[in-house]
Amino acid sequence: MTLAVTYSRAGDPADTLEVSDVDPPPPPGRGDIQVQVSAFPIHPGDLFTISAAPPGSGETSRAGLEASGTVRDVGAAVTGIVAGTRVTFFPPPGSWAQVVNIPADLAVTVPDELSDEVAAQLVCNPVTALLLHRAARQHFSIGFDGLIVNNAAASSVGRLVTAYAQDHHIASVNVVRSAERARQLSRETPEVPVVSTDTSGWPEKVREAAHGRPITAIVDPVGGQIASDLFALLAPEGTLITYGQLSGESVSLDPAVLMSGSGQRGLTIGRWLSATSPEQRASDAATAVDLVLAHQHLLEPAAVYPLKELTTAVQRVSAPAKVGTVVIRI
Ligand SMILES: NC(=O)c1ccc[n+]([C@@H]2O[C@H](COP(=O)([O-])OP(=O)(O)OC[C@H]3O[C@@H](n4cnc5c(N)ncnc54)[C@H](OP(=O)(O)O)[C@@H]3O)[C@@H](O)[C@H]2O)c1
Repeated sequence: MTLAVTYSRAGDPADTLEVSDVDPPPPPGRGDIQVQVSAFPIHPGDLFTISAAPPGSGETSRAGLEASGTVRDVGAAVTGIVAGTRVTFFPPPGSWAQVVNIPADLAVTVPDELSDEVAAQLVCNPVTALLLHRAARQHFSIGFDGLIVNNAAASSVGRLVTAYAQDHHIASVNVVRSAERARQLSRETPEVPVVSTDTSGWPEKVREAAHGRPITAIVDPVGGQIASDLFALLAPEGTLITYGQLSGESVSLDPAVLMSGSGQRGLTIGRWLSATSPEQRASDAATAVDLVLAHQHLLEPAAVYPLKELTTAVQRVSAPAKVGTVVIRI
């Protein structure tokens, strides 16, 4: 038997997720590899998905989409990966397990200089940051005088968005919801202005921080009133790029801003997986690896727990003052 994270009922993942004995996988199929998993991240989106889509009555689901480890065996048709290669992968369902079989074309080779804990976060969030920039750059001004507003900027994705912007000389303004987070980001990236939404008149402070540059892209995982207020700051033809729903609230869009040609679009890495060519995905994964190699400190885990402390780890994901991603070490 081998251990895997499973759930068989609806409810808070801190209550429903458990570590179970499961059958070990068979030898890998022709295009598959078998991986001994060493670490996996627990993203807020993982917990949202587990809560939102419980298994049917009497069924058990395996949890997790991203993990890192060492290849144990490869299928007959696999080239370029051998036993002993360190890999990370996203998003085979059921990735939170000691041993998994996954399609070889989802594996990204891990550079030696990255720890297992950092490697476990190599794809989902860094690629998301890259996709957000690609979406923002659809406005011709980004990379010139245009500016990106980065909401929930202290999140794991948000800090990568800032790093990518700085690497490419793209102006940005960070937005967070507390003075404590604003101080943290000011220490980390003093050259990027940061505004907290817990101060009165914060939208005007964002506008002032832009120093007259047009705000042509806003990246937002929060939604609700904050996103509506941010939308009102957009320059003509600008875009609110929604990639999360942390507030659980919908966004209302000011018709006057809409009439200026501005709009809202959504973005998800799931669409990247289903609608992007394998060549483009490989190129994006390589760019994500470069981003992480240049900014490894941004993927320092918020905390690392052994598998037997899964419940504590899950609770930590939404605990106050968390910076970074919670990682389980197997
Ligand atoms: N669309 C996609 O494909 C995709 C991919 C990856 C991630 N995401 C989404 O991106 C978001 C961030 O993920 P992450 O892994 O970077 O998260 P994370 O590292 O856990 O950080 C979460 C951040 O969100 C802030 N936050 C939480 N609730 C908030 C609220 N109601 N209003 C304002 N800020 C709030 C927290 O602020 P405090 O520090 O003040 O608590 C924290 O800084 C999640 O919604 C996730 O689902 C989407």
